[in-house]
Parts: sequence; structure tokens; C-alpha cells
Amino acid sequence: MALRTIRTLGDEILTKKAKEVKTMTPHLREMIGDMFETMYETDGVGLAAPQIGVLKRIVVIDCGEPYVLINPVILEKDGVQTGSEGCLSVPGKLGVVTRAKHCKVRALNENMEEYIIDGEDLLARCLQHEIDHLDGIVFTEKVEGELMDVPADLEDEEA
Ligand code: NI
Repeated sequence: MALRTIRTLGDEILTKKAKEVKTMTPHLREMIGDMFETMYETDGVGLAAPQIGVLKRIVVIDCGEPYVLINPVILEKDGVQTGSEGCLSVPGKLGVVTRAKHCKVRALNENMEEYIIDGEDLLARCLQHEIDHLDGIVFTEKVEGELMDVPADLEDEEA
């Protein structure tokens, strides 16, 4: 496995829509491993393939439990949560974003088997944030008010 370079805000690839994955390949498996390694190394809780320059609908998340989500689709959203959010593509910044408090997502795992993930609170926020990346949306588009600097003594979760 290897660390990948994370693209940052201003890179055009972050504004593009990613393509569906049709088949799993050894190359994609290796990339998914690299995405986890890169996310853990940078203390993130989620990473989407476009953030490492690959326009495919693949997300990795770990808000306490690791998930691979291929071609994820939000089936249901409900409730509201407003809170601060960061992104590995926008290092050192936080912003307040309102999202659904709960969401239910259908995705494929790394073996291309379908499963359902039900997320609340942080996991729900992370799912919505990462799926936005697959549609070329960065959280800065949804920030209420100004982006803030991450306080030096605070290690916040970034996705
Ligand atoms: Ni992000």
C-alpha cells in the first residue's frame, strides 16, 4: 500500500462528477487500500476517490468502523444537524454545515456485494459529505458563514 496525494480546494477534479464502478479489479483493490492508509495517516474519517485524483464512485469511511462504499446512493434522509465540518481537501479549516441527522445509504463493498448502511450523527454527516465529493461538491459550497481556522490545540475530524 502507499500514501496518495490529496488534491486540495482549487483543483478542478474536486468539482467533477465521478463515474460508477462496473467491476472490481486488482488495481482498484490496491487503490482502496491506499485510500484507507492515506485517510488514517491524515487523521481523516472519510475519503472519496476524487480527492486522490480518481473520478470513480468510491468512498472509504471510518467513524469507528471501516466501510468501503462503491456507487453509494442515499435512499433516505431525515432530521437535521448543524455542526462544524472539515475536509482533507481543505486542510486546517472548519465550517458550519447543516445536514440530515440520519441517512440510509445503499452501496457495494469491495467484493461488489450490496449492503445498506444506516448512519446517525457523525456517520450520517460523513456519508453525506463523501457522497457530495462524488458529485463534485466540496463542503465549502454549503458552509454557513465563514470558514474558520482549526484551533492549533484541536485535532478535528476531517473528511
Ligand atoms: Ni472532504
